[in-house]
Amino acid sequence: MNEKQLVGEKAVEYVRDGMIVGLGTGSTAYYAIQKLGQLVQAGLSIKGVPTSVQTENLAKELKIPLTTFTEVDYLDIAIDGADEVDQQQNLIKGGGGALLREKIIARAAKQFIVIADSSKMVNTLGTFPLPVEVTQFGHKVTKSHIEALGGKATLRQMDGEIFISDNGNYIYDVKFENIMDAKELEQALNLIPGVVENGLFVHMADKVITVDKNKQIVIR
Ligand code: A5P
Repeated sequence: MNEKQLVGEKAVEYVRDGMIVGLGTGSTAYYAIQKLGQLVQAGLSIKGVPTSVQTENLAKELKIPLTTFTEVDYLDIAIDGADEVDQQQNLIKGGGGALLREKIIARAAKQFIVIADSSKMVNTLGTFPLPVEVTQFGHKVTKSHIEALGGKATLRQMDGEIFISDNGNYIYDVKFENIMDAKELEQALNLIPGVVENGLFVHMADKVITVDKNKQIVIR
């Protein structure tokens, strides 16, 4: 079993009958969702809230019942991947472009479980470019304000076209050298008009499930 599958399936052990479950996005969350699909087929009763259209489609294929924030105002648990996890369990997320819904869902969850293979664990955040979601309107001006905070911003492209998020926004991937104060940067970015959200998740993870050098699961 690869590391992503190991941590993804481990996280599902925290899901109980009757729970409202935030369903993450990406190649690690994929394994958690697959496992949840199997358990639902075997009789587990849950409702999922997907963090992206991609995950919504996967959950529908697997016949996982879904709900929305019109019907619920909190979640029991959310399970999601990360692009980087530092020693304080702060995260960079959004490599898949789903950071806004991911952050809304993580914040609404009583328990936010992060699943990360060993390659995601870092001492200091910032090797992975920080995704910042911005409105299309005025995005070049917004970019210059983002760069004034010290990073180099690149507009995300996909298949030769500008990438558009599930919310109709653009994403800048911003390379900061080392992110020394994640909370300060998270707040400074979100104060810029035109920035919708950024991929720094500070003090949000309740548990991080990863794998050590001996391929043993570590929960911290
Ligand atoms: C999606 O927008 C991201 O936040 C993902 O959770 C993150 O990129 C991790 O993805 P992988 O599990 O595919 O590495």
